[in-house]
Amino acid sequence: MRVAVLNGPNLNLLGVREPHLYGRDSLQDIEQAVRAKASAADVSLVWHQTNHEGEFVDLVQGLRGEADGALVNAAAFTHTSLAIRDAWLAVEIPFVEVHLSNIFAREPDRQRSLLADLAVGIVAGFGSHGYVLAFDALVNYLKLRET
Ligand code: DQA
Repeated sequence: MRVAVLNGPNLNLLGVREPHLYGRDSLQDIEQAVRAKASAADVSLVWHQTNHEGEFVDLVQGLRGEADGALVNAAAFTHTSLAIRDAWLAVEIPFVEVHLSNIFAREPDRQRSLLADLAVGIVAGFGSHGYVLAFDALVNYLKLRET
């Protein structure tokens, strides 16, 4: 099974960026935790982060035929990017949307996700552990779909 993890803008600054909202773990710490899960589950994992919307679109398009599913924290693009929404509609790859913070308890502009209705499900509000929860949920979903 092949899983991709796509991270959007400013997530490269996790650990130092607004730690009261996003916690003290760096993106590398989170990657390490998810990689440990993936190797235990015999899942091959690719991990990306970009600050650029077009590059995010390219990453989504590049998943076609390369990944069975994805974890996606599109960060601020979640709330704004029809281009990224269109890319997911085009590739038809199941994904779980992840947010460190509970976006539904934040400012009105953050409560709207342009991806949520396309996702298998959403994990939000559990900090960095949300990535691990989302990984388990995605793998479970993909396994059930196989049977
Ligand atoms: C975020 C929430 C977004 O609103 C914000 O722009 C982010 C991080 C989260 O993980 O909680 O950059 O996606």
